[in-house]
Amino acid sequence: MALVSFRTINYNPNHDPSSGEFSSGGGSSSKEKSTSGLMSKKQAELETKGTKYSKVVLHGTSEAASKDISKSGFKMMKSQTGRQYGDGIYLTPMMDSAREYAKMADNAKGKIISSKVMMKNPYMDGGKNDFTKEAFEYGKKMGIIKKSAKSIDDPPIKKWYEATSKYSNELLKEHDGVVIKGYFDDLVIVKDPSQIKIFEVKGLK
Ligand SMILES: NC(=O)c1ccc[n+]([C@@H]2O[C@H](COP(=O)([O-])OP(=O)(O)OC[C@H]3O[C@@H](n4cnc5c(N)ncnc54)[C@H](O)[C@@H]3O)[C@@H](O)[C@H]2O)c1
Repeated sequence: MALVSFRTINYNPNHDPSSGEFSSGGGSSSKEKSTSGLMSKKQAELETKGTKYSKVVLHGTSEAASKDISKSGFKMMKSQTGRQYGDGIYLTPMMDSAREYAKMADNAKGKIISSKVMMKNPYMDGGKNDFTKEAFEYGKKMGIIKKSAKSIDDPPIKKWYEATSKYSNELLKEHDGVVIKGYFDDLVIVKDPSQIKIFEVKGLK
């Protein structure tokens, strides 16, 4: 039975995961591994040569955060909104989606950061991998979701997010990123900020 539902990948910016309860929201705020900041697109391409994920990826954020990010690169910060798919940096190849995250972070002053990512060993949803089905089974096995649940629409939404977040963290122990297929495009979660090579920061206009 297919487990596809709107819950499969609800990274729609209109979704409000509220308060970060489904992820540790972890990541230190002082001793993070720092990445390099803004570089040319050519350099970013060079530094990600051989990656298993070659699309340009975007990240919407506030103006203040974008300044720090372009200076010294992404860092694992405390989560602002809650992380539905575990502890990593969240990116999307879709402009509309990144724009919404930027607006949510800073209204009209939000910024969109374009990067290339180095992923040697990502977990890729699709083909033989089915993230939704695996997270559902994982949730049941770990007692997060009731054994009687028949589909991912059965558990309370917080329990479903807890399952997806914890399952993604399990995957991130063995993979350097997780790529989840959405309705419109991928959701990319990168484990280590130093895998991200930034080449452009622009405003919403
Ligand atoms: N922001 C996006 O473009 C984006 C893309 C896909 C999905 N999401 C969704 O949003 C949720 C995660 O939200 P998030 O992206 O706000 O991350 P988050 O909640 O993990 O918050 C971390 C914040 O730290 C900021 N940050 C990173 N490095 C920094 C640095 N060096 N200096 C200052 N700030 C820095 C990020 O921009 C982000 O705002 C996920 O649940 C996911 O579903 C967001």
